Amino acid sequence: DKSVQDELKEAIRTIPNYPKDGIIFRDITTLLGNARAFRRAVDALVQPWAGSKVDQIAGIEARGFILGGAVAHQLSAGFVPIRKKGKLPFETVTIAYSLEYGLDEMEMHRDAIKPGDKVIVVDDLIATGGTAEAACKLLQSMGADIVAACFIVDLPDLGGRAKLEALNVPVRTLVDFPGH
Ligand code: PRP
Ligand code: MG
Repeated sequence: DKSVQDELKEAIRTIPNYPKDGIIFRDITTLLGNARAFRRAVDALVQPWAGSKVDQIAGIEARGFILGGAVAHQLSAGFVPIRKKGKLPFETVTIAYSLEYGLDEMEMHRDAIKPGDKVIVVDDLIATGGTAEAACKLLQSMGADIVAACFIVDLPDLGGRAKLEALNVPVRTLVDFPGH
């Protein structure tokens, strides 16, 4: 039987020169649309925490919402959306982070996390790590105990993992595309 890693890797579509020349885009929509691969990905992501107490899953808008909801259900945890600025209706806490061009901001509700909550951060992919680093800083500023940050895809040459490890956040990824 094929390894989970091989199966997941084969289920991800690769699109050269998207969104611009020279970028190789790893498209997880084909994995999400493959019932067996989607289940195997979620099962593999949660496997280290099966049976342990996790309070909240923090999903990063937008693609982290798809996986984060499934992970929360699987671990019987709550779900906290980390959203792009201006989308949440109640009082928020905000953090700025840098993108390829310029700055952006992400937010969560001020009352979404209680100090000491055990939280797992979920997103589809870690590249430079800037997005996940900002999410982890925001959660830690509210007193979250981040048990791990989980991603299906790692682009290891972009160095994202080290940014999270510097925050004492253990990183779990399922497949990597070196050289990407
Ligand atoms: C992509 C991806 C991650 C992030 C990774 O999201 O889904 O969230 O980039 O990049 P980084 O590690 O270099 O920060 P994107 O901002 O394209 O938005 P989306 O999820 O809403 O499509
Ligand atoms: Mg994203």
